[in-house]
Amino acid sequence: MPRLFPLILTGLLLISCKSENKPYYVDRYATPINRSPYIQSLSHNSAKILWQNKGESESLLTVWSENDPSTRHFYFDSRKNDFNISLSDLIPNSKYFYKSTGEREFKGFFHTRKAPEQDESCKILVLGDSGSDGLRSVYKSISTKFNNFDSILLLGDNAYTVGSEDQYNRLFFSPLRKILSSTPVYSVLGNHDAASMLTYTRLFAFPKHGECGGVPSKSEIYYSYNNGPVHIVVLDAFATNMSKQGKMIKWLRKDLLENDKAWTIACWHHTPYGKGGHNSDAEEELVKSRKIFNPILEEYGVDLVLNGHIHSYARTEMIHGHFGESKSYDRDKHMKQTGPHYLKYNQKDKNGTVYVLLGCSGKIDGKSKHPAHIRQKNQLGGIVVDADLNSLDIKFINNQKSIADHFTISKANSLMFSN
Ligand SMILES: [Fe+2]
Repeated sequence: MPRLFPLILTGLLLISCKSENKPYYVDRYATPINRSPYIQSLSHNSAKILWQNKGESESLLTVWSENDPSTRHFYFDSRKNDFNISLSDLIPNSKYFYKSTGEREFKGFFHTRKAPEQDESCKILVLGDSGSDGLRSVYKSISTKFNNFDSILLLGDNAYTVGSEDQYNRLFFSPLRKILSSTPVYSVLGNHDAASMLTYTRLFAFPKHGECGGVPSKSEIYYSYNNGPVHIVVLDAFATNMSKQGKMIKWLRKDLLENDKAWTIACWHHTPYGKGGHNSDAEEELVKSRKIFNPILEEYGVDLVLNGHIHSYARTEMIHGHFGESKSYDRDKHMKQTGPHYLKYNQKDKNGTVYVLLGCSGKIDGKSKHPAHIRQKNQLGGIVVDADLNSLDIKFINNQKSIADHFTISKANSLMFSN
């Protein structure tokens, strides 16, 4: 059996990548190691702290802030290993400390967001297909130049090869342990994550009830949240019904209609534009995402789309209305602005979206070739998004501490927006 196990895993992964029915299985063979605390679904008045213990003694978690007269105590027995505590009625814009005593001792802190009407800036770290050893050099490079991130956004395939708990602990939670202890992380579902779907939904606690802004989706596979002046929409083109009458598309339209943030970023795993390790002209998830998601996102003036799946970096100019195969891309017809500094005229300006492929935060497989792409890089790296009411600034940082691509989007009347 031990010799057969890798073959069985590989077989299951291949089945999960190719099958129409997308079967899932539980990684019953995960190694039960401790997982350090990490923050999820952080808003101005709520947060979640998750961690993993093993053993048989009790633990006590204490949470407090100088701004909050209420000190919170949580007692845990050891009959379970995974802990997920929800904090509510927190004070906005406050530094909270937490500390565990007992069998597993740890401590950390997090900052609640400002009240939504005052929350006017944010800095987001974006990583795509980061589930390989290359993540360590990418994060080291980025963190020497940038820090104080408000959140982390993962574009899926966060732990190769099957997103098992052991692989997540080793390839994601361990290298990012320090930043995860104080910075909330959000993710889209990658096809390799979906190979261990139950693990994925157990490890994370995404804001499916609208607790961080946005319309409640009641799903941790597709959902939305606000981060400062940015509304972020997480979609799925792999494991979710994408029909017009399906729950996700109905929710997406409602969420975009009610969104009043200055900026909107949409993301999912399977890039709609790319030819490299995958082909957006031929593969079902990539084709469907371009034909189904893109028209809706452009209809509501989404500013930026982030995807992974192909292991390289690429971006389009500001384009509009290209939903067909690559040979139908006509720069005269579909390109609205050349950039790299783009201007839109109001919050839901429908005149263009920039599509970015970021699948190179863990490994690289060569450049993506697609006529819609104006920049391509075969480099390990991640993205830093800086947003305020006036501009959205996007930098691709490679693992040599260099800014390998940089563009901005401004809005002419953004100062008039209300949060
Ligand atoms: Fe993928």
